[in-house]
Amino acid sequence: MTLKGLILAGGKGTRLHLCTDITNKHLLPVWDRPMIDWALMHLADLDITDPARIGIVIGDHFGDTIRNYLGPKYQYIEQGPADGIGNAVRIAHSFIQDSPFVVHLGDQIYTESLLRHYQEWQKQDTDIHVMLRWYEHANRHTVVSIKDDRITGLVEKPKEPEEGFVMVGISFYKSKIFSVLQDLNPGHNSEYQLSDAITLALKRGLSISYSILEEEWVDAGTPENLLYASHMIKKWRKEENDI
Ligand code: TTP
Repeated sequence: MTLKGLILAGGKGTRLHLCTDITNKHLLPVWDRPMIDWALMHLADLDITDPARIGIVIGDHFGDTIRNYLGPKYQYIEQGPADGIGNAVRIAHSFIQDSPFVVHLGDQIYTESLLRHYQEWQKQDTDIHVMLRWYEHANRHTVVSIKDDRITGLVEKPKEPEEGFVMVGISFYKSKIFSVLQDLNPGHNSEYQLSDAITLALKRGLSISYSILEEEWVDAGTPENLLYASHMIKKWRKEENDI
């Protein structure tokens, strides 16, 4: 079955307020283009270019500005208030239907192709495939425990450890995940957390695999990271002789 892409571009972007008081976070510039263009470019690594195969979740915080920018050809899914990434994925069920799909948080900026990660998932043939990265400030993210090469659990923003493997905001799913998402309850900050959905999926016996992102990555949701993202992409594009 054909792989579909789901870009999450809802949320409030409070950590970038001032800029996000006037527009949606995913339209802020990262190097020479709006942030969301990089997510679309990465879906193209997987040959997902047909807008009929690309769903974009938009919220009530300047969601229409994204629709105006990208035009009507994509499949828009309206989330309304930002009640969590778990819910943003759940409401996309009617677009995804029975297809396998990749979830791409719209604020993830990185320089590596998704192809190797997708191929690893195909090889492992699991229900869920997450991308991980070793990170020095792991306690700001979802930290993953691994034993004997297997994921044994997930902890959202733990006090410890200082460093470890964190979940990058790109993950692959078979449509079985929707049976888990429909039973998901709000968690941390009263939001539907994707990490809680994966924890529940593990409890229910869904299989999970992972691959490790080796090149640069940043979650561009803070002023420092947004600035860093532009520098990172500028350097990468120069190296690729693409500008
Ligand atoms: P976050 O960075 O966790 O949330 P946010 O974008 O609202 O920012 P802040 O914490 O500063 O208020 O979201 C990660 C990505 O997921 C981001 O690209 C937006 C998207 N998202 C949704 O699509 N729906 C949601 O309900 C949430 C919370 C996030």
